[in-house]
Amino acid sequence: MRVQGKDYRTIWMIGSKVCMINQHLLPYRFEIHESLTFTETVRAIRVMLVRGAGAIGAAAGFAMAQACLEAPFTGYEAFITGARKTIEASRPTARDLFAAVEKVFRAGLSSPGEAVSAAQAIADKNASDGRLIGENGQQLIHHGCRIQTHCNAGWLGLVDYGSALSPVYMAHRSGKRLHVWINETRPRNQGARLTAWELQQENIPCTVIADNAAAYLMSRGETDLVIVGADRIALNGDVANKIGTLSLAIAAREFRIPFYVAAPTSTIDTTITDGRGIVIEERDPGEVLFLQGLLKHTGTMAEVSVGMPGMNARNPAFDVTPSGLITGIITEKGIITPDREAILTLCQWHNGNSEFH
Ligand code: MRU
Repeated sequence: MRVQGKDYRTIWMIGSKVCMINQHLLPYRFEIHESLTFTETVRAIRVMLVRGAGAIGAAAGFAMAQACLEAPFTGYEAFITGARKTIEASRPTARDLFAAVEKVFRAGLSSPGEAVSAAQAIADKNASDGRLIGENGQQLIHHGCRIQTHCNAGWLGLVDYGSALSPVYMAHRSGKRLHVWINETRPRNQGARLTAWELQQENIPCTVIADNAAAYLMSRGETDLVIVGADRIALNGDVANKIGTLSLAIAAREFRIPFYVAAPTSTIDTTITDGRGIVIEERDPGEVLFLQGLLKHTGTMAEVSVGMPGMNARNPAFDVTPSGLITGIITEKGIITPDREAILTLCQWHNGNSEFH
């Protein structure tokens, strides 16, 4: 994607250094963060300096490759095994993180160079999957379409192109008139901050709404289509995605609005039969009680309290939408119905033809 006239990916590796767009600072400042060690990359994942399933998958793969480069000759395998556990403990829900670590770890058993190549291949595949999701999904967007989206599943959430926003970019570039309703996505406001920033870079008409305005706009006939991303998809088509997705799906069903999930097939976890098996991350309650942003009068970044000081808060970061509420899943291989048979067919085909799953 182009930022200030230059092509960027969300995350990349040069030598032993991992570079990433600092998503903490957006949309106020555009800066590249550099992690020199695997521990620094793990921290960047944990504090969500890089976030979004595809992007943290790539980050985790790069962290594993860094660990292989850092490992001593004697005790190499023990070191990388410990590093693997540390990386896997950084965030629990997104499937891509675990798939990437596994793949790079295995390559790293041969040599650090193999690990780096495997990590690069994972990032490249995620970027090209994003492009194909856009090509496959753009047919769902008609001229004049009003699309609602949640969280950030644009190119910042993958390595490039994005998942839910990729069809939007493609449709807009092909000349279709469209409008995007951006759910702000409390508590961390990925919608208001990141999706809004991305869409504005591309001059796509869009409007931020409070999360609790989403159903109202549907009830008024002002939404034609919902597209969201996914962090993990179970074998039966249940989808874990950013908290708030489930209420959107329920509202969309009530008002008969098509509800699509866009995700690369690497998000599908065939070892989990249904959504009850997906681990849901519980994050720091402070994210609910404090809001980060730019102070209106001074223009400096700050955290402000938005709740009763000392109050208890709960912060589940994801929810699970049952497959019955989902119209279809847009993947790099095509659009499928969210059911076991379609998913198994897709994954068998995928496993036989691709090097990353
Ligand atoms: O907690 P985050 O910001 O890492 O959340 C992940 C997401 O961005 C969303 O759930 C997204 O819709 C799927 S991943 C592109």
